[in-house]
Amino acid sequence: MSAFYITTAISYVNGAPHLGHAYEAIVTDVLARHMRQRGADVFFLTGTDEHGEPVADAARAEGVEPQVLADRNAERFRALMPQLEVSNDFFIRTTDQQHKRRVQEVLQRVHDRGYTHKGLYEGWYCPRCADFKVENEILDGNRCPIHETELVREQEENWFFKLSAFQEPLVALFDERQDFVMPRHHYNEARSFLSSGLEDVSLSRARMHWGVEVPWDPGHVFYVWFDALLNYYTALGYAREGEDLTERYWPANYHIIGKDILKFHTIFWPALLMAAEIEVPHHVFVHGFLLAADGRKMSKSMGNVLDPFEVLERYGADALRHYLCREVSFGHDGAVSRDGFQARYDSELANEYGNLASRTLNMIERYCDGIVPAVDTDAALRAEFDGMFARIDELLSVAELSAALEEVWQRVRRLNRYVEETAPWALAREGAVRAAELAGVLASLAEGLRVVTVALAPYMPAKTAVLLEALGAGERLERAFAAQGFGGRVSALAPLFPKSA
Ligand code: MSP
Repeated sequence: MSAFYITTAISYVNGAPHLGHAYEAIVTDVLARHMRQRGADVFFLTGTDEHGEPVADAARAEGVEPQVLADRNAERFRALMPQLEVSNDFFIRTTDQQHKRRVQEVLQRVHDRGYTHKGLYEGWYCPRCADFKVENEILDGNRCPIHETELVREQEENWFFKLSAFQEPLVALFDERQDFVMPRHHYNEARSFLSSGLEDVSLSRARMHWGVEVPWDPGHVFYVWFDALLNYYTALGYAREGEDLTERYWPANYHIIGKDILKFHTIFWPALLMAAEIEVPHHVFVHGFLLAADGRKMSKSMGNVLDPFEVLERYGADALRHYLCREVSFGHDGAVSRDGFQARYDSELANEYGNLASRTLNMIERYCDGIVPAVDTDAALRAEFDGMFARIDELLSVAELSAALEEVWQRVRRLNRYVEETAPWALAREGAVRAAELAGVLASLAEGLRVVTVALAPYMPAKTAVLLEALGAGERLERAFAAQGFGGRVSALAPLFPKSA
């Protein structure tokens, strides 16, 4: 069984989980479940990024210790995973002692190998917070996001990582591995950043305390990005008690990230690993941003948010997973909305897939005493499923989640047309004369429904499991369209995706 290691980015705990986080966890889960279905030995990691200025600032604004804020919000992210039917094997928190220890070990090695130096860091500093603000949190007029007072330009001496030393090794990496970053437009973006020339980057902060201490200079903590990136590596050391999984799963197969953190994952991260003599990951898969229907950034204050918690409560995780994978083409930004969700729910889940399931089960119950006939399936229909899984595997190995789902959906539609074309109710009216034909049609429908359901399982794990049970095919997870009906006993099924919801 081949090992397969997949990760999401780890989320900042200065805010609550939102749809963007849910989206990333969902797409990663689809890929993880898909690889498990193919028999891989999968390890799936997600978690929270808890150090650094934004968390320290948010805690200060609330008047609590950063650890208190981190504990509270990390729990919300952790609790979201099962609600989304996300099957992560471990949830890392960068405040875990074992993580911190391993970060120190790796970065000490980087230091010992000569890839650090002291230098002057210059940035916008808030004297009241006693810390530097990062560019994207600074308010107009160079003001502090917490105190709204003017920031001052300050310098401090801190440690730098010699990123510039990795210019050539990174160019070689990008040249040799054209699929290191996918999709292609994000590879090009990373490659052009590299061409513009790399400068050394700040590795520590002297005035910050909320972070992992620099072992060779205890007054400093590591810049949060270095601590955070290393989570992918450190987690394998302690995710399973008494076991070190590093040998088994490293290097990671897929890191799934959003486009805003491309530079850190495609440039800093491989350089850091090279500096520590650790193998670099196989692929970085970059997704786009979810936008409101008006094409603007989603924001609570603009009232244009598709609230994941509301959707989960009313419709369940599978409907949300289906909608996001279907609506947003992986690697690109995508507009999502409450209306868009409702439209797909009604037309695709309730009408197309849900109806196909209830019609098929009802007809088998009514015309075949509830047993899927063990007779030959329709060769022409079977042929239309040829190559479907090969195509899905191919598409998912380049993270084309929406295109792979479309492959399945075409078959869902094909099966609905098959019901119309064969009109089993008319065959049934003719009794014994056409009983054999009716049995063949229902065997084919049951098998077709079983196959699309197996293909949909990574996308909609909960409902597909229920449907396979009701079809009497709970154990039949093989992906090929069988030449014979499987002979299972069907049972009653409440509508999978009730319309009235
Ligand atoms: N903590 C860093 C990542 C460190 S990884 C070593 C971070 N955290 S985050 O909470 O801001 O974002 C976590 C992930 O969610 C990122 O991959 C980010 O791109 C993604 N998203 C955040 N908002 C998003 C949308 N609106 N849409 C889609 N994904 C977005 O960055």
